[in-house]
Amino acid sequence: MKNSSVSYQAAKEELKRAVDIVELIGQFVQLRKAGQNFLGLCPFHSEKVPSFTVSPSKQMFHCFGCKKGGDIFAFWMAYHHVSFPQAMRDLAERYHVSLPTGTLGPLEKAKFELNEALLEINEIAAQYFHQLLKSSAKGEPGRRYFARRAIPAEIIDEFRLGYAPKAWDGLIKFLKSKKADLEKARQAGLIIAKEKGGYYDRFRDRVMFPIFNMRGQVVGFGGRVLDDSLPKYLNTPETPVFHKGKLLYGLHASYQAIRKSGCAVIVEGYTDFLALRKNGFHEAVATLGTALTREHIRRLKGYAREAIVVFDPDTAGKSAAMGSLSYFLDEGLPARVALLPGNEDPDSFVNKKGVVAFQGLLENSVPMFDFFIDRKLSEKTDYIENRVDLLKEIIPVLSELRNSAQRSLYTRRLSEKLGIAESALIEELEKWGRQRSWTARQNDLVEKVTASKAKRKDDLFLLNLLVNYPHITQRVINQDFRLLLSDPAVIQIFDSLAEMHAKEGPLPAAEVMDRLEAEDAKERLREAMLMAPFCDDNEVELALAEFEDRIQKIKILEAKKKALKKGDIEGLAKIPKLIRERWG
Ligand code: GTP
Ligand code: MN
Repeated sequence: MKNSSVSYQAAKEELKRAVDIVELIGQFVQLRKAGQNFLGLCPFHSEKVPSFTVSPSKQMFHCFGCKKGGDIFAFWMAYHHVSFPQAMRDLAERYHVSLPTGTLGPLEKAKFELNEALLEINEIAAQYFHQLLKSSAKGEPGRRYFARRAIPAEIIDEFRLGYAPKAWDGLIKFLKSKKADLEKARQAGLIIAKEKGGYYDRFRDRVMFPIFNMRGQVVGFGGRVLDDSLPKYLNTPETPVFHKGKLLYGLHASYQAIRKSGCAVIVEGYTDFLALRKNGFHEAVATLGTALTREHIRRLKGYAREAIVVFDPDTAGKSAAMGSLSYFLDEGLPARVALLPGNEDPDSFVNKKGVVAFQGLLENSVPMFDFFIDRKLSEKTDYIENRVDLLKEIIPVLSELRNSAQRSLYTRRLSEKLGIAESALIEELEKWGRQRSWTARQNDLVEKVTASKAKRKDDLFLLNLLVNYPHITQRVINQDFRLLLSDPAVIQIFDSLAEMHAKEGPLPAAEVMDRLEAEDAKERLREAMLMAPFCDDNEVELALAEFEDRIQKIKILEAKKKALKKGDIEGLAKIPKLIRERWG
């Protein structure tokens, strides 16, 4: 037990050496160099101004907005919603570090094993469907279907397309031959339990589109009928590894191209994605038949500076685009809408007209906000009542626009289009602002708290000094520096530090970090570590002297208070002398 935990620790250390945190996080979040550190938009909370910081020298990340932070493992866990052991496994696989069979808690272990089992069984199913399509007589209907859709062999191979046979137990038989656990297959959504016992295949006589996570593992499937029957698509239900609201089909294959061009193109269907891909267009992703969610947009924000939503010209497509507008505004990802002509979808369009014509459509895309207003206006202009409804919808969206020039531009446009005085619209906007004022008040509160943190800048300054100049530790913990601190988390760091220092002498900050337990203490220390040194080598003495000075003042002040309280005239009389002695 002891041994395996030691080697687990060793593997953790090896991973820390093998992985560069900037390179790792850079695969998921757009980072740019800012001084010694790298800066990007935080993937963990909604922000428009980057406060997500990654330090190459400290191998840490920290968001000055939401305070999430830590090392490579912390990032991986938070970004992929996995447990620590899972993060170890993932990173070990990615960076070719071998792991001992570790020491997991029973709950973690169960969760980890279930996820692994579901991925494994999805992989077996993907192989089955794919092989059937490629080389079995039973796969003929699937082959004919893809030929009709002009999907070539390269695409079939790259995206591991398949065919589920017209049988109730095709996959089940295959799973049994592989000695796979059928109950796990049920949990993966591949087969369905019969009431009277036993199972049957969920996907029958359908062409199969495996759906991948960012690691390229199969997490679920979409299955399409070969004719016009319904439902047209059948998807894996929600499972521990399959979340429609978070997954984007094809992102694992597109993210590099998206990062390069800065633009992500969002389409609705698997076949749209594949048709674009076939035509050499690599910046697309597809939703899984759901509306765009905030999670989708947040994920894309890690790769794209802009998104273009391409939706079918049917009403469903349009309302899907409408629904996502406020998310795009909120997340600060500029979005445009490209509209296809007639009854086309990206698949049929690009197959008929080619990729250059498709790019032309993208160039003609309009800002989503314009699209939204125009759309709503064309829907209902007939009655006053409808216009009021329309206002109710648009005003909240308008008030979300952070760019005030843009906001007044849109307000004017809206006023022209609706025939409502601009001043009336502005009044409405203000009213809406007041209605939201409790949120605003909450924000104020947050600001106040942050401001009171500014009063705590001594705390941060001292921590920063300690982190950058560990040789002063002894002096700082001996003096009454605690008198200067007001933040309980920082006081805790000081106390732990004093204790460690007494036992072991000076320790590097990273080591101190590892031993801190409280999250808020870790957070403060991380912040102090990631900030540039507050003073140069030759200013350290000066800074310390100043702090010591302040400590003396505080002490004298306290002595005065005490003397006053006790009516200690003699004590009180000494105070001016004390002050004169020290400060002349
Ligand atoms: P093709 O008709 O094969 O070209 O597919 P498509 O992708 O053009 O289909 P469509 O535009 O009708 O739908 C877009 C996406 O919505 C699909 O790729 C599916 O993800 C999803 N979808 C469509 N129909 C259904 C359905 O009946 N059930 C479910 N769950 N999803 C569907
Ligand atoms: Mn289509």
